[in-house]
Parts: sequence; structure tokens; C-alpha cells
Amino acid sequence: MTRTILVTGAQGFIGRYLVRALCDRGDCRVIGVGRSPGNTTRFTHNIHSGGGERAAPLPDALVPDGPNYAYVATDLSDAAAAARLIAETAPHIVFHLAGSLRDEPFDRLVTNNIAVTRHLCDALAAQGAVLVLGSSGSIYGELGGGGVPLVETGATEPIDLYSATKRTSEDIVRIATRAGGIDGRVARIFNVVGPGQEERHIAGRIASQLTELGVGRRNGVALGPLTAWRDFIDVRDVASALVAIGFAGASDIFYNVASGCETQIATIYDLLVAAAGIADPALTQLPGRGVDIARQVVDVSRVRALGWQPRVDLPQSVDDVMRYYLELETKA
Ligand SMILES: NC(=O)c1ccc[n+]([C@@H]2O[C@H](COP(=O)([O-])OP(=O)(O)OC[C@H]3O[C@@H](n4cnc5c(N)ncnc54)[C@H](OP(=O)(O)O)[C@@H]3O)[C@@H](O)[C@H]2O)c1
Repeated sequence: MTRTILVTGAQGFIGRYLVRALCDRGDCRVIGVGRSPGNTTRFTHNIHSGGGERAAPLPDALVPDGPNYAYVATDLSDAAAAARLIAETAPHIVFHLAGSLRDEPFDRLVTNNIAVTRHLCDALAAQGAVLVLGSSGSIYGELGGGGVPLVETGATEPIDLYSATKRTSEDIVRIATRAGGIDGRVARIFNVVGPGQEERHIAGRIASQLTELGVGRRNGVALGPLTAWRDFIDVRDVASALVAIGFAGASDIFYNVASGCETQIATIYDLLVAAAGIADPALTQLPGRGVDIARQVVDVSRVRALGWQPRVDLPQSVDDVMRYYLELETKA
């Protein structure tokens, strides 16, 4: 049976990689959803490259092709439009990655993270479809800072409004699942690394600045503290974990999606500096966020029990991020 798979946020960073992974399976019809018009050349966010800011180009490997992929522009904050989309496509699995990221205004966080999730759950009610919500490891907050691994059954303590809205979206999926309308699963995604990523995320921010430094458009790099410890996971491994959760994960609602390894942000910096081939760049220390998480230690046994394992190690992942920028510079 050919299954119909809906991917919300399909032209976003993780969505593009997930669409690729799903299309490569060859056993499903994939429908991507987002508000922006469909395109085959870029992500939905901007990056800095070639001395200016522009839509982040898609790596060649992600250009959607083949007859089993289609894209529909729909604003899921419109409940009626969401309901129409679900009625017309009748998906077996929905990977829900549409949303607003940290630092966006509160009204957008509420609309795109909370209301959109509710609209999808309502539209899917009584269809028995699988809904995989892309949530965030940040919902645990400072927990795990003592080195005790974060487990899905443990407490959550969001420290900012983004994480609070992500946790509420989890609650919406959990409530809809308990009510019996959908088969909900929640992927708590930790720190994602991969070519084309947002510069709000640390590896993209550092790679962008190192590229500018390498071509003489800056004199050094300016970054916040590099002391925090995080769990970094390659975006291709996030995509395969989401697939595993969507296709195989049935025993639990919540899954940590992480590598299971702790890495200091300073290591990401060192790896990127080495990949850029720049000896000892001048580093200006910027102040950190007012409130931040010092350390995260993640238990990934639940997602591993689905047969998933990470395949791209951190040096490779970081190297690919740096190469993405360097190649853009040569094309500029
Ligand atoms: N990247 C990470 O490190 C990370 C870590 C943890 C969790 N997550 C979660 O994973 C998900 C995907 O992250 P990402 O990095 O891929 O984000 P992203 O690049 O910003 O993609 C999200 C997409 O959602 C779409 N969207 C937003 N509001 C929408 C709406 N009302 N209707 C339809 N589409 C809408 C946007 O596309 P349009 O502009 O075309 O609508 C955008 O492309 C998010 O929910 C995020 O919270 C990400």
C-alpha cells in the first residue's frame, strides 16, 4: 500500500531533509506544506553569504524531484484551511514541523506553535492517522544540568516562551491522543547541525562568520559564551529518527531525538575553525542570553529501541556546514 505522508514546514530546514528521506524510501506519496509558494531552490530562512543576506540555497542533494512529491501552500493558522487540507489529502502519517522558532514574537509563537497544532489535531480527529510533532529538547530547561540524563518520563521546565509554546503543543498532541482521535507521537529534537541551517543556531552562526573572515570581509569573529554543553545531532539523523518514530514508533508518545553525546560549544567552534582552515581567528566575546541552559545530557534509548542510530558523526556534520558556506562563497 502506498501511504500518503504530509510534512508541514516542508520547505524549512528539517523539513527539506525529511522530505528527501521520505522520497528516497520510494513507498509513499509525500505532500509538503508551508505558507510560502513552492520552490526547489531554497529554504525559508535567510543566511549571510557573498557579502549580503539571501534565502539559504538548497544543497543539491535536497532538490525535490520525482513524481511522488507535491507541495501545497497552506497557512495552517487558518483552521478551515487546515481542515480542508487534511480532508483532501487523507494522510496516513503527518510529520508536523511547521512552527516559529525561539526569539520570534510571542503572538507568532502562540499562533504557529500552539494554534496550528490544535488545528491539525482537530482536523485529524477520528481518522486514526499518526501525527509526529517536532518538539524541542529545550522543554526540559535546566534539568539534566547535574549530569542526570533527560528521560522522556521525567519533568519538563521550559525556561523561555518558545519552549513553553512547544510544551503546550506537546500537551495538545497528548490530549488528542488520549482522546483516541489520533495516534500522536512527540519528537523532542535537540541541537541540530547540518548544511543550510539557520544562523540563529550556533554552527551556522560560526561558519558564516568564519567564511566572511576567510575572504577578508571581517577582522575576527564575535560570539557569545562557548562554555555551555549541548547534545548536537546531524539533521540527516534527525530526519531518519523522525521516519523511525512515524513508521515504527507505537509504544510511547515521547521520544528524545539526540545523539546521546554531550559536546561543549567550544568544540563546535574548534571543529569549524579547523574546517575553515583559519589559524587562530581573533575572537570577541559577546554577552550571553540572560537565561540559558548550561548543560544537557540526553537519554536516547527510547528512539534507539526503534532500530534507529545516528550515522553522521559531529566532525563530519560540522565539516559539511563549513563546506556549504565555502562553496556558496566560490559561487558568489
Ligand atoms: N532546527 C533546530 O535546531 C530545532 C531544534 C529543536 C526543535 N525544532 C523544531 O523542529 C521544527 C522544524 O524546525 P526547523 O529548524 O526546520 O524550522 P524552520 O526552518 O523555521 O521551518 C519551519 C517551517 O514552518 C513553516 N510554517 C511556519 N508557520 C506556518 C504556518 N502557520 N502554516 C504553515 N507553515 C508554517 C515555515 O514555512 P513558511 O514560511 O513557508 O510557512 C517554515 O519553513 C520546528 O517546530 C522547531 O521548533 C528545531
